[in-house]
Amino acid sequence: MVAEAIEDKHMNTPLIEMKNEYKIYIMGTEQVYANDNINLKIYNGEFVAIVGKSGSGKSTLMNIIGALDKPTSGKYILNGRDTSTMTDDELADIRNQTIGFIFQQYNLLPKLTLLENVELPLLYAGVKASERRSRALSSLGRVGLKEKYSQYPNQLSGGQQQRVSIARALAGNPSLLLADEPTGALDSKTSREVLNFLKQLHSEGNTIVMITHDNSIALEAKRVVRIHDGKIIFDGDTEEYASKFQTSN
Ligand SMILES: Nc1ncnc2c1ncn2[C@@H]1O[C@H](COP(=O)(O)OP(=O)(O)O)[C@@H](O)[C@H]1O
Ligand SMILES: [Mg+2]
Repeated sequence: MVAEAIEDKHMNTPLIEMKNEYKIYIMGTEQVYANDNINLKIYNGEFVAIVGKSGSGKSTLMNIIGALDKPTSGKYILNGRDTSTMTDDELADIRNQTIGFIFQQYNLLPKLTLLENVELPLLYAGVKASERRSRALSSLGRVGLKEKYSQYPNQLSGGQQQRVSIARALAGNPSLLLADEPTGALDSKTSREVLNFLKQLHSEGNTIVMITHDNSIALEAKRVVRIHDGKIIFDGDTEEYASKFQTSN
């Protein structure tokens, strides 16, 4: 307790803090502990992989980190604000202000141009049209796709579409990039490109939390949190993780 207080005094407030977080689903007469007493702190500037097998509770945890859902019990403090008492509208606001989402299936809207896709979260955030345009263009520039701004998603390769979704996530200048299996739909060469790009964003100071079922992807992060049956069974440096878990999946 004392050591923890000292640690917090010397570091900034965590960007993400979970205290005794539970998510329990009721299935008929059974209770499923999808998150089972999660305690986790993630600080600004970290690159963390949350890894676990299918059914281990990753998506449940991602939904809570992303303020898309609330814990059954326990606390989730995002950027210093306790989300457990927030209304759905308040959650939507903190989500829009704080988090850029990157999904496995990109979630680009096919009838919108790349520029319009990247502008969308800025529209929700109430940014005015001219600023939306300039921020979206500069965000497309960061992922190397500025010249394609007027094209449509289906004119691009999978890797390029994922880069557009990263541009969309970056456009709102979020505190956190939250990526759910960001390479899950990509071949290994394109996956490598996307991972290298995430590493570059981390080296530029972005905070990244990446959810994956794949150990080899998790090893690209700086810190690994492994989850099993809703519980954290490892939380530490990637090197230490590699020595313990690299051979199993
Ligand atoms: N909406 C839900 N209702 C009931 N059970 C759920 C629901 N969502 C997830 N679960 C259960 O919670 C556990 C964790 O699921 P999930 O978080 O999706 O794991 P992962 O993303 O690691 O595959 C699983 O046993 C799953 O069946
Ligand atoms: Mg999942």
